[in-house]
Order: sequence, then C-alpha cells, then structure tokens
Amino acid sequence: MYEPSEMAILMNQMYAHNLKIKNEIIAGKIPTEFPQDFLNIHTAELSDFKSRSERFQAFSTLFVTAEKDVFNTESNIPIEDRFNNAVGLCISCHQTECTGPIPRIKKLLIK
Ligand code: HEC
Repeated sequence: MYEPSEMAILMNQMYAHNLKIKNEIIAGKIPTEFPQDFLNIHTAELSDFKSRSERFQAFSTLFVTAEKDVFNTESNIPIEDRFNNAVGLCISCHQTECTGPIPRIKKLLIK
C-alpha cells in the first residue's frame, strides 16, 4: 500500500493552505498569520527515493522567506505579487526535485 512520506503530507497541507490564502486575497482579505507548520519543510522526512540535497535546502529557505513575506503587513509590495512570488518558489524547487505536481501548483497563481 502507498504510504505518503511526511514531506508529501506537508506538501499537500501547504497546497490546501495556499489555496485558502489565494481565495482570501481574491476576496479582498489580507492574510496576517504565517502558518508555522510550513517550517516543517526543514525537517519532514522525504520519500525513501529522494534525498535532502543542498539544492533542496537552499530552495526551502528561499521558499520560507517568500512565504513569510506574504504575511508581512508592513510590505509595500502588492499582496498578489508577494503571494505569486511564494508560489513561484514552490515551482522553482519542483522543477528539479519533483516535476509531477507542477501543473497543479501553477493553478495557485493569482492571474
Ligand atoms: C524545497 C523544495 C520544495 C518546495 C519549496 C516545495 N516543494 Fe512540493 N515537493 C518537493 C519534493 C521533494 C516533493 C516530494 C516529497 C516526497 O515524495 O517525499 C514534493 C511534493 C509535493 C506534492 C505531491 C505530494 C504527494 O502527494 O506526493 C505537492 C502537491 C507539492 N509538493 C506542492 C507544493 C506546494 C504547493 C509548494 C509551495 C507552497 C511546494 N510544494 C513547495 C519539493 C518542494
């Protein structure tokens, strides 16, 4: 039976959470609370066949920084741009680490 890794579970949670944030932004709400669970990207176990490469580490740090910026209420950058920047980093990491979910992740972008 297929058992999703901790990382796969976390990724699906991050997907669902970002979808919620996207809908809030479109509805004109400003998200203010960074979901602390996202920090688990630094520790969650990957599937057996994947390794926590240096590239993975570098991208997870960039991603967390970008995602935190979505909740930075003092930023002068439009919320849509900050959100799309964070989603762009999901995609950047996926381009080498795990290409399968990219079409799904692209649907998170705010047009
Ligand atoms: C630092 C690299 C990196 C970042 C950033 C990243 N991912 Fe992932 N993602 C991965 C890797 C590696 C896997 C495969 C995990 C495994 O199989 O253990 C994965 C798996 C997934 C999956 C498939 C999970 C499954 O059911 O198998 C989805 C969906 C996903 N990511 C969405 C996202 C979203 C949405 C974001 C941004 C909010 C994101 N990812 C950010 C590397 C990343």
